[in-house]
Amino acid sequence: MKITVTAIKADIGSVGGHIKPSNRVLKAVENYIAQHHQGALIDYRVSFTGDDIAILCTHTQGPGSASVHELAWNAFKAATDVAKDQGLYGAGQDLLKDAFSGNVKGLGPAVAEMEFDERTAEPFLFFAADKTDPGAYNLPLYLAFADPMYCSGLILSPGMFKGFKFVIMDVEHTEADKVIELNAPEELYDIAALLRDPERFVIEAIYSRDTGEQAVAVSTTRLHNIAGKYTGKDDPIMLVRVQGAFPATGEVLAPFHLGHYVAGFMRGSHSGPLMPVRQNSTISFFDGPPVVSCAAYCVHEGRLTAPVDAFDHPFWDYVREKISEKAIEIRRQGFFGNAMLPYSELEYGGIVKKLEQLESKFIVRS
Ligand code: F6R
Ligand code: MG
Ligand code: MG
Repeated sequence: MKITVTAIKADIGSVGGHIKPSNRVLKAVENYIAQHHQGALIDYRVSFTGDDIAILCTHTQGPGSASVHELAWNAFKAATDVAKDQGLYGAGQDLLKDAFSGNVKGLGPAVAEMEFDERTAEPFLFFAADKTDPGAYNLPLYLAFADPMYCSGLILSPGMFKGFKFVIMDVEHTEADKVIELNAPEELYDIAALLRDPERFVIEAIYSRDTGEQAVAVSTTRLHNIAGKYTGKDDPIMLVRVQGAFPATGEVLAPFHLGHYVAGFMRGSHSGPLMPVRQNSTISFFDGPPVVSCAAYCVHEGRLTAPVDAFDHPFWDYVREKISEKAIEIRRQGFFGNAMLPYSELEYGGIVKKLEQLESKFIVRS
């Protein structure tokens, strides 16, 4: 059976700062979908990571379906009314346009979706990150799909010997989607040359070169490209099909032990280590650290199983401790050097004014 898995997420307000949506707002999203999904969806789950709410759903209408996107948009709109009623912080923050126009892309919410023929058993992972941007997935995806040091399947499982095709987007090109397709392993160094700059080049999708099937879909939204100013970090979501011709679940999870430094953290303007957390986790230290959650599912005829929380395991408690140390270490450096993002990536414009004022006080020595 051909099905589409669509994940759409938005920050529509949270309690006590940018840290967690209220129970009433979450319920409002769920209730809206429960009441209006007939005819559009086969199944759905609503979850949150930090201040972002994600709707994960299945249907048969293919990616970019107007009715599915409109349902999600309307659910977020309805729940924004509740957020406003409760006086939540940043109510409706990611709904950047007033009206729905056929597709939530470009309106603020982030989307990751893919259509595929269901395998007999169809396991997949749903990742949701907060306080960071879509380039945060570049490194773990590179390691899981192109590096046999992390993905043993690349040398042990014949279905993976041909490698994977990476579709990489230049997210600074805002007039239209600008993408490049590169094959691993032959073009590994070209892939690496792009992925080293995760603020500009972002993996959008990955395909098996053996079967041609899609394995990965990442949301590539850049909110400040849409709004022209800071509206919160982009907080990316990602779908990854696993097992068989794709990396095993554990091979996809493994690179997240690194806690690699990503852009985001406080005011979307700092570097912080990406911490794998349990689903429905909140945000704390320095509006961070940047976090990522992972729900593991099977889908059959569009019906979703209850998810397994992939980072809810004693192993990841140890990893979280290590990553906390990395977070504290870089925070000791405050605003200095690599601890704060380069000028072009700072999400708050205030410093521009400050530098303009100082400019007039500079003197050029003759
Ligand atoms: C980062 C984030 C927070 C806010 C910070 C200040 O993505 O959402 O770190 O930037 O709490 O928020 P405002 O400017 O709303 O007071
Ligand atoms: Mg927010
Ligand atoms: Mg967020």
